[in-house]
Amino acid sequence: MAATLLARGGSAAARALTFGCLRQLHTVYQTVELPETHQMLCRTCRDFAEKELVPVAAQLDKEHRFPDEQVKKMGALGLLAMDVPEEYKGAGLDYLAYSIAVEEISRGCASTGVIMSVNNSLYLGPILKFGSEEQKHQWIAPFTSGDKIGCFALSEPGNGSDAGAASTVARLDGNEWVLNGTKAWITNAWDASAVVVFATTDKSQKHKGISAFLVPMPTAGLSLGKKEDKLGIRASSTANLIFEDCRIPKANLLGQQGMGFKIAMQTLDSGRIGIASQALGIAQGALDCAVDYAEKRLAFGSPISKLQAIQFKLADMALALESARLLTWRAAMLKDNGKPYTKEAAMAKLAASEAATAISHQAIQILGGMGYVTEMPAERHYRDARITEIYEGTSEIQRLVIAGQLLKEYRG
Ligand code: CAA
Repeated sequence: MAATLLARGGSAAARALTFGCLRQLHTVYQTVELPETHQMLCRTCRDFAEKELVPVAAQLDKEHRFPDEQVKKMGALGLLAMDVPEEYKGAGLDYLAYSIAVEEISRGCASTGVIMSVNNSLYLGPILKFGSEEQKHQWIAPFTSGDKIGCFALSEPGNGSDAGAASTVARLDGNEWVLNGTKAWITNAWDASAVVVFATTDKSQKHKGISAFLVPMPTAGLSLGKKEDKLGIRASSTANLIFEDCRIPKANLLGQQGMGFKIAMQTLDSGRIGIASQALGIAQGALDCAVDYAEKRLAFGSPISKLQAIQFKLADMALALESARLLTWRAAMLKDNGKPYTKEAAMAKLAASEAATAISHQAIQILGGMGYVTEMPAERHYRDARITEIYEGTSEIQRLVIAGQLLKEYRG
């Protein structure tokens, strides 16, 4: 039933969106201005997170265990292919809906949030936008139900922020591409059934020589590196992908040859809305935890929430969170309305990730010793928040993107 709820009214909801609905935000739950579809979606995701993720998030984190069962249930709800049209088995919703859903899921479990975000934005996103009809049927539909998930391989051991310096190569040999090279820090790597991978077909052309390819996993010539032992988001897998004479059909080129860098950049514009939303979820979880504790913890004869020192912190935390949420929803709505959103997505990711690290830091301060131990989720929020300032472009890269777009606007 919930799946039906999510799968209906997507395009109608997209049409109903206006900037007017961004007024008087408090928490998404209390936001009457959101269209009905989005409010229902928010409630569904929040209930799902409370029942299915909050009770297990600490254990998944401790055991570095992929949330297999939960991901399948999310697939059944339509959460793994949110803006994919129904003809390819997606939920047919919009990016605002996606942002709200990633936030709610990440509030329960940030690892599950990034698994969801990578499948939606980084794997399905470029195929939906640049894939041929045949590729869409082959590479999208099986990745909507939670039975299979995808990943995205851009970074390499020798290049992260400088995405145009890719050294993985793809050579055409008859009817096959032959891939060689190593991709690094790949989210979902150990659990994925396919990857969108970027490799250069002509090094002399620099970023204009990069192309995108669709590679099934497992496949001969592609092996996985060790599962990284990470500070946070430990229930998601991160590993290198090693290509050694990995042969794929010629038809697995995504988009045109030499178009890979633009595909990567446009994919990351959308992906940054997903990571901003993940950061919002972590921040909201940390704030909820801090407020709950401050209301219950007694010191100097009354709850610490009565102390100005605590109130000032709570006010700053709420301000940072709600400002970042507005930026994130604005970027999502610009995308939904077919407007440019590169700068806005970078602003959203920058504001939300910095808010998440600051809020989770202050939450621990409010909880004191209780914030430092694993009995409470505050220490996990603090660890999970940190990566949001790094992946899908560091905060420094977001500032470069914002400044670049801003200067372009001024120069006309
Ligand atoms: N949309 C469309 N085109 C874009 C674009 C965008 N957002 N950004 C740049 N381009 C185009 C430019 O117009 C330019 O086109 P022409 O060649 O036709 O003129 C071309 O791309 C090159 O642009 P730049 O000169 O600006 O490129 P650059 O080499 O200076 O790099 C950068 C720009 C912003 C630093 C970019 O390299 C970048 O975003 N780096 C960060 C990479 C990143 O985010 N990596 C994250 C890895 S993925 C991940 O984390 C996944 C995970 O598992 C969670």
